Amino acid sequence: MPAHDVLIIGAGLAGQRAALAAAESGATVAILSKVHPVRSHSVAAAGGINAAMNPQDDWRSHAFDTVKGSDYLGDQDAIEIMTSEAPDEIIHLEHIGVTFHRDDTGHLDLRAFGGASMKRTAYVADITGQAILHVLYEQLMKHSATVDRYEEWFNTSLLRDDSGRCVGCVARDIRTGEMRTFVAKTVILATGGVGQAFKPTTNGLICTGDGMSLAYRAGARLMDMEMIQYHPTTLVANGFLITEGARGEGAHLLNADGERFMQTDAPNKMELASRDVVSRAGQKEINAGRGIGPHKDGVFLDVTVVPRNRILESLREIVNLGRDFAGIDITREPIPVRPGQHYTMGGVKTDVNGETDVPGLYAAGEVACVSVHGGNRLGANSLLDTLIFGRRAGQHAAAVAGEMRMPEVSEAQLRDDERRIRRIVDRPRTGRRISAIKDELGTTLNQYCAVFRDEEGMTKAHDIVLRLQEEARSAYIDDKGTVFNQDVLGALELGFMLDCAEAITLSALERKESRGAHSRTDFPDRDDENWLFHLTVQQDGEGAEAPGEVGRAPITFTQWQPMERTY
Ligand code: FUM
Repeated sequence: MPAHDVLIIGAGLAGQRAALAAAESGATVAILSKVHPVRSHSVAAAGGINAAMNPQDDWRSHAFDTVKGSDYLGDQDAIEIMTSEAPDEIIHLEHIGVTFHRDDTGHLDLRAFGGASMKRTAYVADITGQAILHVLYEQLMKHSATVDRYEEWFNTSLLRDDSGRCVGCVARDIRTGEMRTFVAKTVILATGGVGQAFKPTTNGLICTGDGMSLAYRAGARLMDMEMIQYHPTTLVANGFLITEGARGEGAHLLNADGERFMQTDAPNKMELASRDVVSRAGQKEINAGRGIGPHKDGVFLDVTVVPRNRILESLREIVNLGRDFAGIDITREPIPVRPGQHYTMGGVKTDVNGETDVPGLYAAGEVACVSVHGGNRLGANSLLDTLIFGRRAGQHAAAVAGEMRMPEVSEAQLRDDERRIRRIVDRPRTGRRISAIKDELGTTLNQYCAVFRDEEGMTKAHDIVLRLQEEARSAYIDDKGTVFNQDVLGALELGFMLDCAEAITLSALERKESRGAHSRTDFPDRDDENWLFHLTVQQDGEGAEAPGEVGRAPITFTQWQPMERTY
């Protein structure tokens, strides 16, 4: 059975950054991912990465913007770490080969992004995530003597010893169906978010909440799960992301009457207010009947006001998206967009070194909740989060592993997982299809846990999630084979998403105020007196079917007390 000092599950930016840091600290590393690493969802991150690089800027200003953007739910110690370490991380990326855009004088160019008090977003056109991901993967190759890559392996369980410490995982080789136990002194989850529990979403098919669910089943707390980010500009046709970089370059949002409606909701920041504010403004236009298109279900993003050569240079990916998926030339016509699910601010509760409640288990990136984003993430802070906390988790996990002996592990969990998968394969065709349950989950959350919410809708959503959990236990699959059996993976992923959905609806029902992305029509105001804390969800008992219990955790304040948010 393979044994490593540090086992990393997930190979997007957080996972690869953790792997590099752990390897550079002298640890032996395994990085295991259900897709080839450069197909990880970080590849879709478009607009850029924030850092106070401009000589007139200061990390404290970036920190305050992040605190304010979080609607005062973010932990300020973690935010200070992220923003103060950001400039060095960008320089490190440049040194290892990321070709950030430079201005005519040869200096690093920075673009405007939402919620930021000055231009501080470094970028590579509108493919920033892809550019960084490829460079990190190249760097990992340099460490092939100490970093083993398990590409297209699907994690089925985390292993814990008798003391409750995480000591590895069980995974399935997607190509062959072979199951294997991986032993490790420390384990880092870097599996991304759970956007696929919503339909539509900007997230790739692989974003199914695997790490959140596995950590939850292992006893860890999930935190801030009610905070779901709707990105203001996703294509009406299919929910694809149209980068905030477009508004950073000057694009306008217009309703059916041609009005720049942000004038009402954020007269100073306009289209560059933070995402929760812009999404609410767009949704209000749609709800008031001022939407565009045959179904009045969108608004226009008008990029034609940006010089054409600039669009072709710095927004070339959305030129392609407009042409291929909306049939328009975005340099000449406005883009039909609407708010769409984009990001989970919540995740596995960690400290600033990535440690979770379960000894030996770390989390970093979107799977984790440090919490640097609180109630609302600022655009271009997610790449930063993955890199800063991926590196810190990798370094800490390697240091802890350096003091330990390799754990002894049996194959009992592997046998359990094999039996569990066999039962899924053998199910009779009497229940529902996996895809039908996933579809109902996605449309339910998108209807009731979206930009605006209320008690009645969220209660419906919660009840539906509980019913879907029951139905998922007898849902059948068609493929009975072992080679690239995506049906089996789909069944396991559905279980992961339903765990996360339960945590989302429980937390959203619990928080009886509006804060950040959690905007309740029945409790429209932020209520600092009664709700200035995080909500956590933990399983009440062992096993995948144990119900979730909601708890509270304090917010860390360092220098900023809550103020009214104005834009
Ligand atoms: O709009 C965007 O480019 C997305 C960036 C982000 O989510 O940080």
